[in-house]
Amino acid sequence: MSLLSIRDLCVDYRAGDRNVRAVDRFSLDIEAGDSLGIVGESGSGKSTLVLALLRLLPKNQAIIQGEALFEGQDLISMPEQTLNALRWQELSIVFQKAMNSFSPVHRVGYMMRDIYRLHCPGKSKEEGRARVEELLDMVGLPPRVYALYPHELSGGMMQRVNIALSLMFNPKLLILDEATTALDVVTQTQILEEIAALEKKLDITRVMVTHDISVIASSCKNVAVLYAGRCLETGAVEKVLLDPLHPYTKGLINSFPKHNTEEKEPLRSIPGSLPDLSDVPPGCVFAPRCELAQDRCVEEAVETILTADGRRVCCHHYGGERLAEQ
Ligand SMILES: Nc1ncnc2c1ncn2[C@@H]1O[C@H](COP(=O)(O)OP(=O)(O)OP(=O)(O)O)[C@@H](O)[C@H]1O
Ligand code: SF4
Ligand SMILES: [Mg+2]
Repeated sequence: MSLLSIRDLCVDYRAGDRNVRAVDRFSLDIEAGDSLGIVGESGSGKSTLVLALLRLLPKNQAIIQGEALFEGQDLISMPEQTLNALRWQELSIVFQKAMNSFSPVHRVGYMMRDIYRLHCPGKSKEEGRARVEELLDMVGLPPRVYALYPHELSGGMMQRVNIALSLMFNPKLLILDEATTALDVVTQTQILEEIAALEKKLDITRVMVTHDISVIASSCKNVAVLYAGRCLETGAVEKVLLDPLHPYTKGLINSFPKHNTEEKEPLRSIPGSLPDLSDVPPGCVFAPRCELAQDRCVEEAVETILTADGRRVCCHHYGGERLAEQ
């Protein structure tokens, strides 16, 4: 059984009289020990997808449908109380823009200690402090950070604090939403290496959400390419990034600089922009921007096919072994 099995997950936002479908029939299995990168340009639905898994989207705006089986239990339909017991303990998340999520008037360690005691009633302040100091040490921060205020920490230190917080209860699944995006390349590399070491030590399965392909290339085993809420290509990182099949994946890769090659190809951005998610064309969602688009692409819904080398691609152009519609 997969650790997390997502089937036909849809998320609709109600925006006035419009319905914005931010995630559309997303299906994917995440195995224990996996490190999955979810990549896509801004607005492609990455945060919506991971927040939907934890049901952390505003209830009056977002409607979540489909299934997300975590160790066989459906996160989408289970009672709130059952989910609460899993959040943070089993499934943990570092939120996008988490750097600004701490109260500026409280010391970092005190806040972490109080969160620990809230989830572990009966633990003393001393026990809470000991756990927090252990966590700070785990992410390479000195004990003095315990008594500092958020504004006294650098961006990299703050992000380490957030990662420490997410590891508080040794979760099985850790989701990092753009956790290193705002950091310089050196700090980003250090943090990615530390995360890799920690997940090995603590036996954590990781989902890494980012728009930065280089982060996926250097830190993930598998990748899912998201566009306008649809999963367009999934598979092993070395296959998808070195030999992309979907035109959108190719476009994403071509728009990133290559450092490990002599080739001096100019960067090529993908023309156009994401479609209006409240009025998506009936055929392929990427058709208005795709240079391979044909009449069929505009008119016919696209099925996801499983290729001989085990990846899934959602494109009429690619002829592989057709398996199942997702
Ligand atoms: N509360 C909301 N109401 C209506 N639409 C929303 C709401 N929140 C997000 N959206 C829309 O859902 C789509 C996906 O947004 P989301 O934040 O998930 O994208 P993202 O891939 O995480 O982008 P980024 O890389 O910039 O973080 C966008 O079109 C966004 O405008
Ligand atoms: S289905 Fe057609 S429009 Fe869509 S990505 Fe494939 S070739 Fe391009
Ligand atoms: Mg986001």
